[in-house]
Parts: sequence; structure tokens; C-alpha cells
Amino acid sequence: MQTWLVLIAYASRLGSTREIAQAIGEVLAQRGARVEVLPVEEVQHIEDYQAIIVGSSIRDQAWLPEARRFIQIHLDRLQALPLVYFMVCGQMSNPTPEHFHEVYEYSREMRELVEPIETGIFSGSLDYSRLSHEERVSVLSKGLPEGDFRRWQDIRAWAEDVYDRLQLQFARSRAEENIRP
Ligand SMILES: Cc1cc2nc3c(=O)[nH]c(=O)nc-3n(C[C@H](O)[C@H](O)[C@H](O)COP(=O)(O)O)c2cc1C
Repeated sequence: MQTWLVLIAYASRLGSTREIAQAIGEVLAQRGARVEVLPVEEVQHIEDYQAIIVGSSIRDQAWLPEARRFIQIHLDRLQALPLVYFMVCGQMSNPTPEHFHEVYEYSREMRELVEPIETGIFSGSLDYSRLSHEERVSVLSKGLPEGDFRRWQDIRAWAEDVYDRLQLQFARSRAEENIRP
């Protein structure tokens, strides 16, 4: 069977989103996909990929500007591909349904630009000692706790599901190609 090439493009300031992107990449590669994991700023072309996963950490209730830019620049191609989003945030350190809905809303602008087949929402990590004074004031005003809240088992299980969804989508499009006159 043909293997497909997936790009995982991420925007991260302090590394926790990057490590989640890498963990997702490892799962997809173990399942048999070919995977490239790159910061959004380093992606030049996306024509070679059969699927794209875009992840951003959340700052001040929004995706990082470089991730939003990436989607705007590559909009045409992204609309033609299976696309998956994920977000990494502080709110989900306390994973209530209210927090889930609140964080899901942060992706509204991206989802209106191009609808993904899946949106993952993960809790990230915060180390106050690595923040500037302004950043610390900002996270404290939001009540975001310090610590590493990444649930690796959930992240890997989500990546397994994404693999299955993509595999199904590719199998369907191959079948449609075969029945086309
Ligand atoms: C200045 C600042 C603002 C943040 N704003 C939010 C926010 O509005 N909502 C939220 O859920 N998390 C917020 N966070 C938490 C980050 O999303 C979380 O720490 C994430 O893991 C950071 O990802 P990174 O290590 O890839 O940069 C904020 C963090 C910082 C430092």
C-alpha cells in the first residue's frame, strides 16, 4: 500500500507545543505514514503533502499569529487536503466542559477559513521562571497554573484516531478514483 506524507506544522513559544507535535509525528510514523514536523515559519511549500496537521499554542485567547498567517498563506491548498488542527493551552489543565468549549472557540477564525476534519485540544505546560514580567502578569491574571499538564496518553490516543481518519479518507478517495469512468 502507498504511504502518505503528512506535514505537522506547529507554532510554539516555549516548546510544549513543539514536543506535542513531535509526539503526534512519532505515532503517525509508527503506524506507517511518512511525517515531517516543522515550525510553521520554516514551511515553504505544502504541495508535496497529502495531509496537513497545524498546531498552535494559545496566547491571550488566540492562536499564535504565525500559525494564523500559515493558514492564510496556504489557504487554497489547505482547502483541497485533509486538514487537522490542534491547540495547546493552559485552560485545559482543568479540563471542564466549559473550558473545552471556551478553548474550542479560539479556533473559530481558523475553522471559518478552512474546516478541518478534526480539532484536538490539549493542556500544555507553564514554567513561570521562563516568562517575562509582562507574561507572568498575563498568566496570573488568567489564573493559569504553573506545571506540566500534558497528558501524553491522551495525545497519543488522539494521534492514533487521526491516523485512522486519514487512512479511511485516503482509502475512500482511492476507491472513488477507481470507479471513475
Ligand atoms: C503570555 C501567555 C499567555 C497565555 N494565554 C493563554 C490563554 O489565553 N488561554 C490559555 O488557555 N492558555 C494561555 N497560555 C498558556 C499556554 O497556552 C500554555 O502554557 C502552552 O503550553 C504554551 O505553549 P508553548 O510552550 O508551545 O509556547 C498563555 C501562556 C502565556 C505564557
